[in-house]
Amino acid sequence: MAGQLRIITGIAAVVLVAGAAAGFAVAWRPSIAAISPPQPDTFDPAMVKRGRDLAAIGNCNTCHTTQGGANYAGGLPVPTPFGTIFSSNITPDAATGIGGWPEAAFVRAMRSGVSRDGRQLYPTFPYDHFTNVSEADDRALYAFLMTRQPVQASPPANQLSFPFNYRPLIAGWKLLYFHGRDVPSNEAKGAEWNRGAYLVEGLAHCGACHTPRNALGAERVNAQFSGGQVDNWHAYALNDTSHAPVRWTADALYAYLRHGWQADHGTARGPMAEVVDNLASVPDNDVRAIAAYMADISGAPAPDGKSGADAVAQSSPADAAQAAPAGAAIYAAACASCHESGRPLPYGGINLARSTAVTSPDPRNLINIVLAGVGAVEGERGPIMPGFAASIDDTQMVALLNYLRARFGKRPAWDDLDKTVREARAAQAVSLAARDVPAESSQRGKP
Ligand code: HEC
Ligand code: HEC
Ligand code: HEC
Repeated sequence: MAGQLRIITGIAAVVLVAGAAAGFAVAWRPSIAAISPPQPDTFDPAMVKRGRDLAAIGNCNTCHTTQGGANYAGGLPVPTPFGTIFSSNITPDAATGIGGWPEAAFVRAMRSGVSRDGRQLYPTFPYDHFTNVSEADDRALYAFLMTRQPVQASPPANQLSFPFNYRPLIAGWKLLYFHGRDVPSNEAKGAEWNRGAYLVEGLAHCGACHTPRNALGAERVNAQFSGGQVDNWHAYALNDTSHAPVRWTADALYAYLRHGWQADHGTARGPMAEVVDNLASVPDNDVRAIAAYMADISGAPAPDGKSGADAVAQSSPADAAQAAPAGAAIYAAACASCHESGRPLPYGGINLARSTAVTSPDPRNLINIVLAGVGAVEGERGPIMPGFAASIDDTQMVALLNYLRARFGKRPAWDDLDKTVREARAAQAVSLAARDVPAESSQRGKP
């Protein structure tokens, strides 16, 4: 109720601001004249290569490519609390993509969320972060995109209700929430940290998922990196409110971001798997820089962090078993052989006392992974865990979750598990049918 009220008063505020904005003609942006698409060979190959790496850091493919669809041809449904927004075709097709866009129009879109024809763009396109990208990097991104295969394709119409379908309102949203954020810079912290800050707060838009949003979908600036929601997953807190049982260090972050797995923390799944898949192909220095900056955000490693998780791992499971006997039996039969045996990858999982999935205030990631398991990456020796969607029913799942939470999380039971399990099962069926990883999500090996 309170949430709904906030949304309604929020809408009223935006309508008012938009009215004022219209008065000041802020909502109106000029159209930039179309050009005929530049020839691909007019772009410097070194710049195109740099643009490719930058596009990977910015996850352009993840949102602009549908499963089985042509690269960058758009049409991916991006769910928001206000309805579904479909991504644009950003191939250099003159009629339906950005082929007719001069470089200045592309830079303006990245900087201020305005399309070539002057239309306001929804901040689902994370220009609140991309505004921090340097002009040189925007030009490299432009060179990369303009040398892709042009594809003729128009995205379906957005499914938004009034007033959210009225684009000029976005100008009001921008007045409230979009102020061209600065990238933190601190000479004393060194070049790597500053490079990391530039990437994390800009192109890599880590906060787009890891920062909670307000009723109108803007990131809460005073809660940066304290955990957010994306596609039925919880993007864990990464600041000093992190629930990771073992404190994140720069080395651990580097390994996790580079390889998608780290012995003290486990594996990246869901939307984070797509991020990591992209980071696998970018220059090592950039991943190190991101890790250095994020390690600083998460605070100094707690001296007792690791021993704390070890103590839980070795503690007697008797109390937890007493609290959730049915769950204990399922764990012993279905999970312990891989998670407590020290089996090596690809079959051995980490001891669950190290997993943020059991300590997190939000149980959805744990439910998602037990339902779907962890698939092997084609051609790689990645971790493998079977999915239990067909073999564990909702009642058994709740019992298992209660046991894992008590035994490994050492925290009070999650509320409303029945409902969350039901919703996760339903959402997974939908996402398997519609979304998930685009067919060609990895840009590895592409020019
Ligand atoms: C989280 C999803 C997401 C990511 C990541 C993303 N985009 Fe988008 N982008 C969108 C959506 C959705 C739209 C459509 C917005 C609208 O219709 O108002 C869009 C629109 C655009 C547009 C405007 C196109 C037009 O015709 O007006 C450009 C240009 C663009 N994106 C480029 C990029 C580039 C370059 C990257 C990577 C650096 C990127 N996007 C990453 C979701 C995303
Ligand atoms: C598209 C949304 C999205 C983006 C963008 C994103 N993340 Fe994540 N991240 C997630 C989700 C969801 C999880 C939880 C994954 C899981 O359950 O395995 C996660 C997990 C993590 C974790 C593990 C935390 C823990 O305690 O286990 C780290 C570290 C992390 N992300 C860092 C980053 C960094 C650094 C960036 C930017 C380079 C980033 N993420 C960008 C969605 C995202
Ligand atoms: C065939 C071996 C196998 C079985 C059986 C198995 N797992 Fe896994 N599990 C893995 C592997 C491999 C991973 C990925 C590596 C990692 O993160 O530990 C994984 C990952 C996980 C994670 C994510 C840990 C993290 O934060 O990265 C959780 C949670 C989990 N499993 C829970 C379970 C539960 C609960 C069961 C029983 C219902 C189970 N697993 C059964 C092998 C297995």
